[in-house]
Amino acid sequence: MIILGIETSCDETAAALVENGKTILSSVVSSQIEDHHAYGGVVPEIAARKHLEAIVPVVQSAMDQANIPTQDIDALAVTQGPGLVGALLVGFSFAKAFAYARKIPWVGVNHLEGHITSVFLNEKTPEFPYVALLVSGGHTSIYHICSHTECELMGQTRDDAVGEAYDKVSKMLDLGYPGGLIIDNLAKKGDASKIPFPRAWLDKSAYDFSFSGVKSAVRRYIEDTPDYKNRLSDIAAGFQESVVEVLTYKLIHAAKEKGCRDISVVGGVAANSRLREAITNEALKHGLRVHVPSIDLCGDNAAMIAAAAFHLLQNGQKSGMEDDVFSRAKSPMGQKHR
Ligand code: KG4
Ligand code: ZN
Repeated sequence: MIILGIETSCDETAAALVENGKTILSSVVSSQIEDHHAYGGVVPEIAARKHLEAIVPVVQSAMDQANIPTQDIDALAVTQGPGLVGALLVGFSFAKAFAYARKIPWVGVNHLEGHITSVFLNEKTPEFPYVALLVSGGHTSIYHICSHTECELMGQTRDDAVGEAYDKVSKMLDLGYPGGLIIDNLAKKGDASKIPFPRAWLDKSAYDFSFSGVKSAVRRYIEDTPDYKNRLSDIAAGFQESVVEVLTYKLIHAAKEKGCRDISVVGGVAANSRLREAITNEALKHGLRVHVPSIDLCGDNAAMIAAAAFHLLQNGQKSGMEDDVFSRAKSPMGQKHR
């Protein structure tokens, strides 16, 4: 089954063709980062307008790269939410119209479920049940994943998402947006032990997170240190180590509590080199197998949306013309709260 996936929830217009939820025939991501750069964040109205300009060329380019005729597409997958409503509507309306014109099934996909499914595009995939750490610009959560259609939320952030904390710290230091990769690269040149920022453990045996404390600690350090500009790499390394240590500890702890052998790290921040390294090292010590997406599938993309849709369609789920987008986070995979 060949699925055309479409993703327009934030600042990336993406289209991909994926066969049987596994083989990527093409994946095109057109980023709007430059259009939002001057504003230090994503401007919803600009995002929607840019998606409208990009959607047809991006889909066309995915079709050209896969080199298959339109009639070979069996179904459509599109991000339904959470995200910016105006942005989501561009992809959603496009998918509805495309599916209606071609008389093929289509399914709206929860963006979080897309990120979680991104590791199923790898050659080696996790065995159910496993524990997933979702770290992006909008979310930081730990899930116990029981199947492609069932999961349990074990914990989540009480304030900022981890990607958001990276972006805000980068902005405080005048380094640019988005901040994740900038801080990641800068931290490589720094010494994390020079400025030991606090670790927000909350309850060490539970899985909730908080990143506003470390963010404020960075702000205080900047205010109290006149020559902080000479210490940017140590600030970046210290901040990153504080975040990575907590994320790694809680993920490993969650897997052990659930008795799982497999763990995954997904979402934009899963591209972080130090996080990948720390989790891989700890997993090795505890006999756990780590699954991470390739770097290009960590950030927003449409291949993960098409992969998630494959499993939904296998499970008999489909969307209808009356369906609409949603802006706020909804549980992925019929999630049960504990
Ligand atoms: O998954 P994503 O592309 O969009 C959302 O669904 O939010 O994640 C974007 C986030 C941004 O906050 C960005 O700064 C962060 O992922 N990010 C990183 C890295 N690359 C992207 N954070 C830390 N290290 C990175 N290398
Ligand atoms: Zn995302």
